[in-house]
Amino acid sequence: MPRANLLRSTPFRLALTFGLLFITAFFVAGVITYRTLERGLTRQLDESVNATYLAVASTFSQNDAEDLIAAVNTYASLHGAGRGVFSLADASGKRLAGNLAPPALSEGLWDVDSDDLGLPGNKKYRARVGIVGGNRLVVGQSFSERDRLANILLISLGWSAGLIVVIAFAGAMFVAARAQGRLDAVARTMEDVSNGQLATRIRLKGNGDDIDRVSDHINHALDRLSGLVDGMRQVSADIAHELKTPLNRLKMTLEDAADKDERGQPVASLLAEARAESDQINATFEALLRISQLEAGTRRTRFQPVDLVDVMSSVAEIYADVAEDEGHSLQFSGPDAKSAMVMGDRELLTQLFVNLIENAINHCPPGTAIQLGLEIEGGAALATVTDSGPGIPAHEREKVFRRLYRLDKSRTTPGSGLGLSLVRAISDLHFAELSLEDNRPGVRVALSLPLSD
Ligand SMILES: Nc1ncnc2c1ncn2[C@@H]1O[C@H](COP(=O)(O)OP(=O)(O)OP(=O)(O)O)[C@@H](O)[C@H]1O
Ligand SMILES: [Mg+2]
Repeated sequence: MPRANLLRSTPFRLALTFGLLFITAFFVAGVITYRTLERGLTRQLDESVNATYLAVASTFSQNDAEDLIAAVNTYASLHGAGRGVFSLADASGKRLAGNLAPPALSEGLWDVDSDDLGLPGNKKYRARVGIVGGNRLVVGQSFSERDRLANILLISLGWSAGLIVVIAFAGAMFVAARAQGRLDAVARTMEDVSNGQLATRIRLKGNGDDIDRVSDHINHALDRLSGLVDGMRQVSADIAHELKTPLNRLKMTLEDAADKDERGQPVASLLAEARAESDQINATFEALLRISQLEAGTRRTRFQPVDLVDVMSSVAEIYADVAEDEGHSLQFSGPDAKSAMVMGDRELLTQLFVNLIENAINHCPPGTAIQLGLEIEGGAALATVTDSGPGIPAHEREKVFRRLYRLDKSRTTPGSGLGLSLVRAISDLHFAELSLEDNRPGVRVALSLPLSD
């Protein structure tokens, strides 16, 4: 078996998909965080510019610009043009104070470049422009602090993203390798099974996870498969063994007939014997075939509502005379209800009860009481066929359902050992529960069928 490529395995793809989803989610969250912080910092910068502007403007009093000029110069010298810009110009545009030439801006809050302010470098400023006592006051602060903080966030987000990619990929490999290892074990077991090692089973981890559950189902299917294969082997061996005797008998009869014919003696009776023997062999084959067909389950499509009271009372009526002729008695006791409807095949259910009654007639000494009973128990119909004959020993009760299996003491009675196999096949076809118990004395066969509504 070629080793599965981990990168192309379903577990890896799944893990990777989740990894990618996680990374995408992280990216989106990162963008939102970055934007929110950027907006917050911008607002903070605006507030700071406004507060400084008001502080500077408040130094102007009673048409006296002296204090204002002094304040602008003090702020300008404290901040330096790199971080803060301050300018005061009179109505004609002449510079009165500050660290830059008064820019030609109207009143309000502005984003301005250092170029526009006649300053070197490539910086951006947030500037508030206003008229104080007829003079134009400009107070601005650089965006550099805001950009610095935003940059720190961007870098930390970048590192986190890198780390997450590595962890997600490594995690995907780890999870995938573990799951793949277990799937490989399943595949190896199936390969062993297909190579004929039917006893091989998948080892379960015991944690009840999905792979364990699927493996458990596969193990059950394998149990059933190997059971069926064993059964088939057993059946083939049994059939070969059981048919050897009648085929040998047929051969000897035909050889006898050939000898007699050579000697000019009549052979009609031997040929009739040979025909009867081949008819019996044919019947056995037909019954075997029928059981196999029933086991295939296709006849369920023909199921219809069937009244068990009707089926059982009809069979009992027909077989009452046959039983009497053999010195037995046959009685049917039905339920209080007039009918017991089940979904099934009338012909097959009739065959089932006939087989059980014939067994009681054929395998019990004269004088046996044979009882057919039907009761309603909950949602099921419980049909029983009992006799007071010699019974079947406990260790043989399962074996008698095997194809062609007969008790030693029955070898002399006519039959091929397929009656009970057919009973079981019909019962299984109807999803019924079948049991064979001791009737003390005799045999009690019980069949529980779900009632249809
Ligand atoms: N009511 C019974 N009492 C005693 N033994 C029984 C009874 N029913 C079945 N058996 C035993 O179980 C064996 C299997 O029964 P089964 O009906 O499968 O085959 P059969 O009756 O021998 O042949 P066939 O039914 O094919 O004519 C019988 O050979 C018999 O030994
Ligand atoms: Mg029988």
